Amino acid sequence: MAKEQTWVNEAWAKSLDKTLRNAARIGAGFPHASKGGVYELAEPSWWTAGFWPGMLWLLYNESGREELRSLAEECESKLDSVLDAYVRLDHDLGFMWTLTSVASYKLTGSEVSRVRAMKAANYLAARFNLKGRYIRAWNPWRDGERNEGQAIIDCCMNMPLLFWASRTSGDPRYAHIAEAHMETVLRYFIRADGSVYHIVNFDPATGEMLEGMGGQGYAAESAWSRGTAWAIYGLALAYRHTGQLDYLSAAQRVANFFLSRLPEDNVPAWDFRAPEELRSLRDSSAGSCAASGLLLLAAKSEDGDAGVYRAAGERILKSLYEAYGAWDNPAEEGLLLHGTSNYPQGTNIDVSLIYGDYYFVEGLARLKGGGPFYWE
Ligand code: GLY
Repeated sequence: MAKEQTWVNEAWAKSLDKTLRNAARIGAGFPHASKGGVYELAEPSWWTAGFWPGMLWLLYNESGREELRSLAEECESKLDSVLDAYVRLDHDLGFMWTLTSVASYKLTGSEVSRVRAMKAANYLAARFNLKGRYIRAWNPWRDGERNEGQAIIDCCMNMPLLFWASRTSGDPRYAHIAEAHMETVLRYFIRADGSVYHIVNFDPATGEMLEGMGGQGYAAESAWSRGTAWAIYGLALAYRHTGQLDYLSAAQRVANFFLSRLPEDNVPAWDFRAPEELRSLRDSSAGSCAASGLLLLAAKSEDGDAGVYRAAGERILKSLYEAYGAWDNPAEEGLLLHGTSNYPQGTNIDVSLIYGDYYFVEGLARLKGGGPFYWE
């Protein structure tokens, strides 16, 4: 690592230190968002359940601290109740089991973990709508809710579980489904300027696109920054898994949009097209997720572009470290401050978010030349 990157080692050491302290309280729980400095624990069925164990694995892998590994394994076991119950599962299977069972399988070769991840991949594949060529996002969580036709940009990050399942089983069907879903993303989610829809609603019977929807962004035609980050990273991963250049050029187009909209401190507003008075509200998690994706994109791009994306990923992480970290505040469990989970619903605004912390640590691991990375 170059001399000027000593900040990366400092940030890593502080992340490890804080996580070891947090582990003593959180244990094998499932933190999501911090309130008053303390991470609230979510049900294991909530979509964020993989990020804490995923971060424990990343830090274990470099530090060898056995207590981190053992908590990550305990979290993975607890998720069996969710996998077995089935009814609580929606498309977030990819987020949840890539960072737990795929991670464990890659690092330890555990056969139990491989089987869990294959089960999750089968449930995910079963959500594919053949007519619309998309993975259905959610289940009807409220009485009368109809969302059979909805697919969301976040799901780009669930596709690595299907690519992994094809590789590990030798059966190409999982990858076929992932590619079909990603082709739908290219066709309907990404706008000409590189911004993306959060939700696209299809007619589930005919597959026809009906409308783009605002979801967690400000409005249907706005540009939710975390959704933009999911697209950058998910498309870069689709290219990593398939070698298809369409995914690489789309990832670059979305990345260029994201980078062109960053404010001076390189950490995005929660929605790039929210009215100006709302754009002072940032989403540090969109920054850390995009940064880790940009570092992967850099590794997959040609020389000139590679330098641009690497420098951008590094700039975002450095700004998060220097201006958004809670390093000197022992009363705050989050590593990063100023995440925005769901502005339209008014939930978890300007707080620490476990996925923001996860991608920050993952981005640092990329800068350190570490790995393996579970999505790959
Ligand atoms: N819907 C997952 C997220 O908040 O990004």
